[in-house]
Amino acid sequence: MCKDAIVFHNKPKGVTLEAGVEYSICTCGRSKNGAFCDGSHEGSGCSPKKLTVEKTKPYQICLCKSSGNFPFCDGTHSIYKDDEIGKGVK
Ligand code: FES
Repeated sequence: MCKDAIVFHNKPKGVTLEAGVEYSICTCGRSKNGAFCDGSHEGSGCSPKKLTVEKTKPYQICLCKSSGNFPFCDGTHSIYKDDEIGKGVK
């Protein structure tokens, strides 16, 4: 996680990831899609997290950028109210 991240959403995003593919997961909360890096971290002090999974299946990707098991949702998003979306992580 990145201390300069912002909360993209207070719910996770379900995405199917393919085994063996290297993904760049957004850690800054500024990516347009929330889950995958699109380069929007430039100047934020954050860097994307590389992720490769062993099984092709749906995963719940953390969009609040605060999960203790990042990049996977662990339920931590419940600490954020709707008016905290787009603001700094706690
Ligand atoms: S979205 Fe669930 S812990 Fe971040």
